[in-house]
Amino acid sequence: MDIQIAPSILAADFANLGADIKAVEQAGADLLHVDVMDANFVPNISIGPSVIKSIRSHTDLIFDVHLMIEEPHRYVESFAAAGADWITIHPEASSDTAETLQTIRSLGKKTGVSLKPATSLDEIAEHLELIDLILIMTVEPGFGGQSFMSDMLEKVKAARELIGASGRAINLEVDGGIKADTAPQVIAAGANVLVSGTGIFGFDQSDYGTAISALRNA
Ligand code: DX5
Ligand code: ZN
Repeated sequence: MDIQIAPSILAADFANLGADIKAVEQAGADLLHVDVMDANFVPNISIGPSVIKSIRSHTDLIFDVHLMIEEPHRYVESFAAAGADWITIHPEASSDTAETLQTIRSLGKKTGVSLKPATSLDEIAEHLELIDLILIMTVEPGFGGQSFMSDMLEKVKAARELIGASGRAINLEVDGGIKADTAPQVIAAGANVLVSGTGIFGFDQSDYGTAISALRNA
């Protein structure tokens, strides 16, 4: 299976965001993972649509936007307009997951659902037809640089089985603590899209290519 690498700009240098994004693009990134936090769903604040709009012209990378916000249905249209390509919501934060996914589709964007460590796959099993991406959190959402939770590997395996049984081409993404040592474990469990923040932006720009290859070929 082709492995796609999605650097998370949460760990980038926000004073040089455009240059950092260009650098990961040139270093072989497949997607750009954009973490949006509202100080409500998670105890942290990051960026919103205006930053996404600003960086849109700096890269051709697909924007994989991870909404860690309450009531995502109120904001998906703004994120689509700002330049998001994939829009991932948390069912734990959504009053109507199916309706929000339908809205994302109607905006011409790819749909994702992300599950916190304690949330069961059962939450999304009934919505698979509306889903293009399942994102399994391998840390508690909110902060970069946390340690990978190896007990999530079983969930990744179960998600891969669910996807196989559905017959649909759903991407399986993992996010949190993905580095050269944990990447082989998530790939073996069935993940095909790997998010990494500190595992890429934690290095000097000149080493982004090495870091990305190490994840991809783990
Ligand atoms: C955490 C975010 C992650 C974060 C990952 O809530 O969803 O995308 O940036 O950071 P690392 O790779 O440093 O664990
Ligand atoms: Zn994320």
